[in-house]
Amino acid sequence: MSDALYFNGRFTTTDERVLTVEDRGFLFGDAVYEVFKFLRRRPVFLAEHWRRLSNGLRAVDIANPWDEHSFDASMGELLQRTAFHDGIVYIEVSRGEGERAHVYPDGMTPNAIAFSRRFKFPDAAKKERGIRLVSTDDQRWKHCDVKSVNLLANVLGKKKASRAGGDEVLFIDGDVVRECGSSSFFIVKDGRVITHPLDVHILPGVTRDRVIEMAVDSVDQRVIAKRELDDADEIFITSTTQGVMPVRQIDEGRELLRGPITADLQRRLDERELLVD
Ligand SMILES: Cc1ncc(COP(=O)(O)O)c(C=O)c1O
Repeated sequence: MSDALYFNGRFTTTDERVLTVEDRGFLFGDAVYEVFKFLRRRPVFLAEHWRRLSNGLRAVDIANPWDEHSFDASMGELLQRTAFHDGIVYIEVSRGEGERAHVYPDGMTPNAIAFSRRFKFPDAAKKERGIRLVSTDDQRWKHCDVKSVNLLANVLGKKKASRAGGDEVLFIDGDVVRECGSSSFFIVKDGRVITHPLDVHILPGVTRDRVIEMAVDSVDQRVIAKRELDDADEIFITSTTQGVMPVRQIDEGRELLRGPITADLQRRLDERELLVD
């Protein structure tokens, strides 16, 4: 499928092959990525995605090809060039290209790409039904706060979940529940909404932040022990593409129905997404 593609300051379509085999994102996973959603051709929470992308690039010493103004302008034009109204934009900034060597020269020129994609966001039935998680040992690197393209552990974890009939993988580190393969993780207990604190073990999810803002008086950001999964009142995950999504079952554990706090957060997030300009 041919979609609008931004490449280093110019616009083309995904039919054009723009990267070479010497791109360090391909060779080393030496790149940071971002995904935002757009509705009616308007980006959702773009400033927050920009902030996370900038922080990630800074953390791994990759030059940022944009400032916030040129980023907004580039994404705005990409959406104008996109043939459909609702979808996602995938952005990747690699350190650049050059002869394969682990040690990179200073001052490399980054490669920046962004392309739009159609995406089927969950409908009302799926938002009520929820998803199944399959747990696995967290074997990711120790900088999960950076949205790096080093996703091998996530890829293998998600495949394991899929083979077991699940929709998403849940990473558990010893006794501690971290997050999912491409979503943040929450439990609800006695009216409290509980999620892992921001640190190197999880990605600072943009949707996670929105949920924390919306439920601010009843949120606890603290480590969740594995045993707490057995008697949580509600469980849900959050992400740009899934919004707030109830969890119906983890592994072979008991079946849960969507709870009232999850349903309320879903409704409020949907409203917020449409308010965004
Ligand atoms: C590991 C991980 N955690 C959480 C999320 C959710 O982040 P966001 O709400 O910004 O989409 C993602 C999104 O891809 C992710 O990859």
